[in-house]
Amino acid sequence: MPYFLQALKSFILSDADIADMRPLLSQLDPQAPKLTKDRIKQVMEHGRVVIIRHHPLDGNAHIVAMATLVFKEQLMGRFGLIEDVVVDEKHRQKGLGRWLTQALIARAEIFGMTHLDLTSRPHRTAANNMYEKMGFLRRDTNVYRFVLKNKRP
Ligand SMILES: CC(C)(COP(=O)(O)OP(=O)(O)OC[C@H]1O[C@@H](n2cnc3c(N)ncnc32)[C@H](O)[C@@H]1OP(=O)(O)O)[C@@H](O)C(=O)NCCC(=O)NCCS
Repeated sequence: MPYFLQALKSFILSDADIADMRPLLSQLDPQAPKLTKDRIKQVMEHGRVVIIRHHPLDGNAHIVAMATLVFKEQLMGRFGLIEDVVVDEKHRQKGLGRWLTQALIARAEIFGMTHLDLTSRPHRTAANNMYEKMGFLRRDTNVYRFVLKNKRP
């Protein structure tokens, strides 16, 4: 399979990578702001961005999937949030979403996290199926958001 998974590092982050990641973020949320190098670097200060590159035999390599593991510190310990999980439409149902999620779980274990949290809207059928199949348990809790006046960067 011509796919390679890696954690992004700021020193290997190229303009071409960012150009690949922008449409991916739009597939996750059409309202997503334009992704910048600074934004990715800020995310990497508090977590890891894992990507999958497709290396076709007859062309250039491109990032076709990504996911973020956010480090969370609280008084009770360290846990992680899974965010930004998306696989390019043309590369779905080949096991890449599961591979990405598995890679985040492996890193969370290495970083000493006690658990991983995520939210996924009910209409995201593929994502909800994937997480439940991989052993994520639905929690009995209320999710709240307080909206502030600041705009997305
Ligand atoms: C969710 C997503 C990341 C899954 O990626 P993927 O590479 O297609 O998933 P995989 O091939 O690894 O499949 C893993 C599991 O997901 C589920 N799944 C994948 N596609 C599905 C579909 N179209 N319908 C129902 N379940 C599906 C299955 O349970 C599958 O397990 P199986 O192969 O044993 O049946 C991808 O569909 C996506 O990017 N969706 C849009 C963005 C999104 O919703 N992100 C999640 C935000 S919380």
